[in-house]
Amino acid sequence: MASSYSLSPHHHRHLDQIRAQAAVQYRRVHDSLTSRVSRFVCAVFLTVLSIVGVIFFILWLALRPHRPHFYLSSLSVPNLDPYHSPISFTVSDHNPNHNIGIFCDSIGATVFFNNIEVGSVPSLSEPFYQPPLNTTELRGTTAGNGGGGGPAAGSEPPDRVDGFRVELRAKIRFQLSTWDTHRHKIHANCDAAIGSDGQLLPAYRKKRCSIYFF
Ligand SMILES: *[C@@H]1O[C@H](CO)[C@@H](O)[C@H](O)[C@H]1NC(C)=O
Repeated sequence: MASSYSLSPHHHRHLDQIRAQAAVQYRRVHDSLTSRVSRFVCAVFLTVLSIVGVIFFILWLALRPHRPHFYLSSLSVPNLDPYHSPISFTVSDHNPNHNIGIFCDSIGATVFFNNIEVGSVPSLSEPFYQPPLNTTELRGTTAGNGGGGGPAAGSEPPDRVDGFRVELRAKIRFQLSTWDTHRHKIHANCDAAIGSDGQLLPAYRKKRCSIYFF
């Protein structure tokens, strides 16, 4: 009866096979469990990360400081003579931020006619603080050089004279002393045309000056 008890080589092989299969099965289950857990952890992590990202993006959109807006509200060229007359102008400086004040450290202007500089005002204002949503009018008058003068006698004044440009250079700081103390240099270009009376045409009044940075 021993033969019925003794494990034949065939039987041995069979057991080994079962054991090996069990080991494979176990490893498969274990592996899939581990990968399922790690996939879950990964998904939770990515979800949290994207929610935090979206919150920060919305906060940044809501709180980021906006540059000031500049508009030309007047430009006056006596005798329609940009080369000799003192040119007067008014610039509207608007702070569009609801909660952020702007320190304007300096602001200067240069007047161009057909891209030729015809006058400049190095400083339109002492340094000033601009509260949120405030609009400040800045006036300037170029020196002019007095020579020449006046339209030729008897000639009809033109309906309009195009080609004026007031270039603004400002240095500002936003009122966010904890994380934004550096100075922003802003350059703005205000295109303009005057009518036969030497005054800014209404179409250019309150037209936003284009801003660019260096
Ligand atoms: C803008 O602020 C200046 C300086 O604080 C103030 O004198 C002026 O009245 C304000 N303008 C408006 C429209 O609130």
